[in-house]
Amino acid sequence: MLVDLVDQDRYADSGPPHEQLRWLREHDPVHWHPGEPGFWAVTRYDDVVHVSRHSELFSSSRRLALFNEMPEEQRAMQRLMMLNQDPPEHTRRRSLVNRGFTPRTMNALEPHIRDICDDLLDKCSGEVDFVTEIAAPLPLYVICELLGAPVADRDKVFTWSNKMIGAQDPDYAASPDEGGAAAMEVYAYANQLAAQRRGAPRNDIVTKLIQPDENGETLDENEFDLFVLLLVVAGNETTRNAASGGMLTLFDHPDQWSRLVADPALSRTAADEIVRWVSPVNLFRRTATADLMLSGQQIRENDKVVVFYSSANRDSSAFAQPHTFDIGRDPNPHIGFGGGGAHFCLGNHLAKLELRVLFEQLAVRFPRLRQTGEVRRLRSNFINGIKELPVRLN
Ligand code: HEM
Repeated sequence: MLVDLVDQDRYADSGPPHEQLRWLREHDPVHWHPGEPGFWAVTRYDDVVHVSRHSELFSSSRRLALFNEMPEEQRAMQRLMMLNQDPPEHTRRRSLVNRGFTPRTMNALEPHIRDICDDLLDKCSGEVDFVTEIAAPLPLYVICELLGAPVADRDKVFTWSNKMIGAQDPDYAASPDEGGAAAMEVYAYANQLAAQRRGAPRNDIVTKLIQPDENGETLDENEFDLFVLLLVVAGNETTRNAASGGMLTLFDHPDQWSRLVADPALSRTAADEIVRWVSPVNLFRRTATADLMLSGQQIRENDKVVVFYSSANRDSSAFAQPHTFDIGRDPNPHIGFGGGGAHFCLGNHLAKLELRVLFEQLAVRFPRLRQTGEVRRLRSNFINGIKELPVRLN
């Protein structure tokens, strides 16, 4: 039968099992995946959207751990993160943090992101590792900037975020526990940042988030610290891997790279197509809150339900020629940022902005950019990630 859809080694080797996912979409779209624990693998676009938009049926808060049990301390912390909550609890927190992430606020960041990108590319020449020199620092610098974290702290924030997300990859964390320890450090760091802003408010997102909104509601200290923790993971690794996965995809599709070089303004649609094609977040889990049917399949209360964005984003019912990478694709209703509903990615505008600016500048400045060595992938079934991508810039 099918390969193990969540085998970490397989992801490290060759990324998501696209052929198997395609077979499932066509023959067994809501598939019982045996294992410890077993779960329903949801692979079709419409079903992923349905699950994402019905948090009353598919909970984000019940039964947290997807594949590994975690220590109670981490579990308690995870429960408090909005990613792991359902409405109405989630709604209050989300509307408080939305204040910091409006499209207007994000667009105002564009000149700044251009500068960060320019500075990074100025430092690069000849042969470099695209991940270490470009894809990884860009979102990290942007997040640190958003938080008003001092430049001197960037490296430590970077190391923590690697340990948290790479907890299953020995290159990043010696053990999953190291990921937990790093999370505690980010948490404490956020606390420090907030304390500094309380003493000396600034015109930045931290100050905005610790102040009451127009209804007098505010994130308490704990909620704020957890939000920062979420940002450091959610805003960093995802964008990094969209950038490096996008670069690799452009190497694999030289005709599309030539198109971009000829017309760098295409980076706007290219950003979305990269997120569709790479699906940097491979999957997310939910838990059924009742006995229910999904595409003809009987699901029982408390069953785990896992949505595969990487599969839905290549579903022929939603995309013309889904297996063609087309940087001009428009419209592009991909669900790489989630299938809509309560948890839809808070940072989607920011991520697209970073990708647009980066690929535009790469195409303008380094039209002869090429791959010079083997790619090394992250050992993770959650993030479709790349650890190393050797390139020559000019
Ligand atoms: C949630 C993808 C960049 C912050 C999510 C979700 C996905 C996702 C799939 C879950 C959606 C769901 O469960 O329905 C991505 C991708 C990115 C990216 C592919 C880059 C290409 C960012 C950035 C930030 C961010 C830059 C912040 C600066 C968040 C947060 C959540 C989230 C806070 C949780 C929202 C909630 O629970 O209400 N993202 N993301 N993401 N993302 Fe992103």
